[in-house]
Amino acid sequence: MTTTSPTPLDPADIHIVDLFAGPGGLDVAAHALGAASVGIEWDASACETRREAGLATKQGDVRAFDAAKFTTANVLAGGPPCQTYTVAGKGAGRKALDEVLGFVARLAAGEHWPSIEADLSLLEDERTGLVLQPLHWALEALQNGRPYEAIVLEQVPAVLPVWEAFRKVLHNLGYSAECAVLRTEEFGVPQTRRRAVLIARYGKENGVVLPTPTHRPYRKNARHASRSSYPGLWPSEGAEAKRLPWVSMGEALADYRTGPFTVISNYGTGGDPKARGRRSSREPSATVTGKVSRNRIVAGENGPDLPRFSFREAGMLQSFPEKYPWSGKDVSQQIGNAVPPLLGLHILNAALGRGTPSDDAIKRLEQWRPPMDTRSTKPQSAS
Ligand SMILES: C[S@@+](CC[C@H](N)C(=O)[O-])C[C@H]1O[C@@H](n2cnc3c(N)ncnc32)[C@H](O)[C@@H]1O
Repeated sequence: MTTTSPTPLDPADIHIVDLFAGPGGLDVAAHALGAASVGIEWDASACETRREAGLATKQGDVRAFDAAKFTTANVLAGGPPCQTYTVAGKGAGRKALDEVLGFVARLAAGEHWPSIEADLSLLEDERTGLVLQPLHWALEALQNGRPYEAIVLEQVPAVLPVWEAFRKVLHNLGYSAECAVLRTEEFGVPQTRRRAVLIARYGKENGVVLPTPTHRPYRKNARHASRSSYPGLWPSEGAEAKRLPWVSMGEALADYRTGPFTVISNYGTGGDPKARGRRSSREPSATVTGKVSRNRIVAGENGPDLPRFSFREAGMLQSFPEKYPWSGKDVSQQIGNAVPPLLGLHILNAALGRGTPSDDAIKRLEQWRPPMDTRSTKPQSAS
């Protein structure tokens, strides 16, 4: 069957309901595109950050809401919690995946949600079933006669088999859908992080085109291939040659760190707890996790210790705007949980059938400021 490029949707007509919305990685991206959003999130601290950022929020358990309560929403987004899948391939993670795939099959077969929900409550780890919520919402919206125009989901790479299963179900229900693992540094985020992404558009004629990378993938041995030292170390031919070099930590934090530095991970690599991963300021950051503030930073390669990343810096490595008003407790965890907004911008734009985001949209994201009318007067905790 042939598909055509999706009909572009105007962001001004878009209203996103964002399940498991966290501190707002996807919402700030939506706003930079000119779309409206409301997030559902239960964590009080993430909600505090969202409040300070002026993001519309329903604080509570996603399971206590349903599609019918969001009558203006025409796009569904979701980044369900990932803890139970991160060890997929072995033990508990593999078991969690198999359980979820079984539930997807039941949903696809038209089984009523209440009986599925009753069985989900019996799972060993109740978080396992949360990944089904976006599909449940999508099916409910269809039953209500108001299918979402677009659906955007993101998770750790281990969840790709679930997105594959969702893709097939959505396809049978009239959606065009694609999923893949994307690398954040290939979209200009100064960090290497891999995310399994699903993008769907209602209407088989709206063939989904996944976001096209704009930057080169990180390669360990191309240590100096950042903007400042380009060209010379990269292939001069092929698709990758046309892309921009990846963005380094040093470039992203140029206003905060002078001189080269090395980040020494809090974790060991290759199964050796003593072999700490190292990234130079000329490379993108390693994946920013909830433990980002535990990483050591030294001047040069082995110089004296430097201050650890502030919340603001860690947020910027996730491509959050410099002035993002991180608030509440456990800010590192909020930052580590989030979708990098720059990746969110590419994913949402692709879902709306609009290709690569414009330079203006990227600038709006970078220059984003918290709205004055909703901000409290207390000083930012992320200086
Ligand atoms: C992976 S993060 C999502 C980040 C978000 N997409 C962003 O861009 O910032 C998952 C979020 O789901 C929230 N969460 C987990 N279980 C929830 C539930 N049952 N209802 C509402 N939020 C929940 C967590 O507090 C966390 O902030």
